[in-house]
Amino acid sequence: MKSFTATAALIIGLLSSGTCAKSDWEAIHDTINRYSIFIDTKDFASLDRVFSSDAYANYGGAWADLYGIDAIIEVCKESVAGHTSQHLGSVMGIDIHENENEGSGQQGLTWPYNALQWILKQHIPADVPINSTANSTTYDQSTLFADPYYNGSVIYYFGYYLDELQKLEEGWRITNRTWAKAGPGYSGNYSVATA
Ligand SMILES: *[C@@H]1O[C@H](CO)[C@@H](O)[C@H](O)[C@H]1NC(C)=O
Ligand SMILES: *[C@@H]1O[C@H](CO)[C@@H](O)[C@H](O)[C@H]1NC(C)=O
Ligand SMILES: *[C@@H]1O[C@H](CO)[C@@H](O)[C@H](O)[C@H]1NC(C)=O
Ligand SMILES: *[C@@H]1O[C@H](CO)[C@@H](O)[C@H](O)[C@H]1NC(C)=O
Ligand SMILES: *[C@@H]1O[C@H](CO)[C@@H](O)[C@H](O)[C@H]1NC(C)=O
Repeated sequence: MKSFTATAALIIGLLSSGTCAKSDWEAIHDTINRYSIFIDTKDFASLDRVFSSDAYANYGGAWADLYGIDAIIEVCKESVAGHTSQHLGSVMGIDIHENENEGSGQQGLTWPYNALQWILKQHIPADVPINSTANSTTYDQSTLFADPYYNGSVIYYFGYYLDELQKLEEGWRITNRTWAKAGPGYSGNYSVATA
């Protein structure tokens, strides 16, 4: 049984690997990581690959309660204007919540179909249906250097991104990003941030 299981998983894995499909976990990880790259390269237009159009974000202070991707992009632009930035997202926990109302279509199916489904779930990264949701925590340490840089013109932020995501037709998108500070939230030269 064990070798049958392994063989079936291998064959199906090979068949489905042609497009190098990412598991949902990897796809979420990628969405969250792209945020840093798009911001630090100032490629703000590509943030539609990170946020849903109706996303909400709260970065605290004057940047709390941002509704919709346009408002979020404006603040992202503002936050790095006149700076070279490095957003270092790390230590990521992701919890995926499968949408059980849609797409499963398994009710009433019997042996051997349900047994095969069970076997697949043990071996192939779960591919949850569209509209499934996830939430995640990502450690954030972001550095802003004044541009041009001179000695002491640097500030470091410390916090957590608390995200809610949804699997849309176009991929996983953040629907709610809330930034929570760690400790004092920053160290370094605060006048760089307000420059
Ligand atoms: C996902 O949710 C939207 C909005 O509620 C709905 O219109 C759509 O049919 C759902 N899609 C799937 C595949 O469940
Ligand atoms: C997801 O949300 C639940 C409920 O708020 C929380 O207990 C859990 O820690 C969150 N998971 C992550 C990875 O942040
Ligand atoms: C920066 O500081 C270092 C060491 O304190 C010094 O050698 C250097 O000349 C300074 N550079 C500028 C541009 O002030
Ligand atoms: C802090 O940065 C400002 C420019 O934003 C600069 O004028 C000042 O010298 C810096 N302070 C220190 C202690 O490096
Ligand atoms: C976004 O998530 C935060 C928790 O991280 C929650 O307090 C807030 O109500 C959510 N906002 C929306 C608009 O969903």
